Amino acid sequence: MARLQLLLAVSVIMLAAASGGARGFHFEEATVDSIHRSFRNGSLTSAALLHAVIEVNPDALRDVSRADAERGVNRRAAAGGLHGVPVLIKDFIATRDRLNTTAGSFALLGSVARRDAGVVARLRRAGVVVLGKSNLPEWGNFRNAAGLDGWSARGGQAMNPYVLVVDPCQASTGSAIAAAANMAAVTLGTETLASILCPASVNSVVGIKPTVGLTSRSGVIPFHS
Ligand SMILES: *[C@@H]1O[C@H](CO)[C@@H](O)[C@H](O)[C@H]1NC(C)=O
Ligand SMILES: *[C@@H]1O[C@H](CO)[C@@H](O)[C@H](O)[C@H]1NC(C)=O
Repeated sequence: MARLQLLLAVSVIMLAAASGGARGFHFEEATVDSIHRSFRNGSLTSAALLHAVIEVNPDALRDVSRADAERGVNRRAAAGGLHGVPVLIKDFIATRDRLNTTAGSFALLGSVARRDAGVVARLRRAGVVVLGKSNLPEWGNFRNAAGLDGWSARGGQAMNPYVLVVDPCQASTGSAIAAAANMAAVTLGTETLASILCPASVNSVVGIKPTVGLTSRSGVIPFHS
């Protein structure tokens, strides 16, 4: 049973030089504002360089505008710490929107969930903006070729943003990389066997794995080892 955990994407200050982005987008120290501007001018497709994101939510900009408007109209209602914060969701976790939930596999392409996973529903109630789905080793870990962890047929080979040739580690790979590269403020992962802790440590972010059972596991594609 996959154990759903939060991967809290608090980037730590790194001494190693971060890699620059392609086509003018700079991953390191990107702000939410620059991320939005880059979505608009198309340069965030350079996220493909790291293969951390499988799909971008076509409604993200609308949701961001709505969050901004809510903040203007009712500051108190929008005062929660996660209101308007961009979040990337591991492709194991169901979202009820236009995004596919596929475990990185073409076999599930076209599968759009009928309801949000428990954690996604709670995050939406808190006002987050779902930016998209993060990459992962397809189905959890079964389809990595010999070599680096973090490959899926849909997302390609996810890469450690600090050192591209270093193994980005298994399972919640794209979530950790997206956090390290500032593609989202917060990313969600899942963990069965160090699947948050390992990619978080290897990609130099803080991963939080709460006690099993504290967060809902409904609507999450399970990983059996
Ligand atoms: C797109 O916007 C970002 C953020 O403002 C900027 O860094 C980048 O240079 C822009 N890229 C292009 C191709 O206009
Ligand atoms: C979901 O998958 C379908 C293909 O089945 C594709 O046409 C659609 O663009 C995907 N959704 C998003 C948000 O990328």
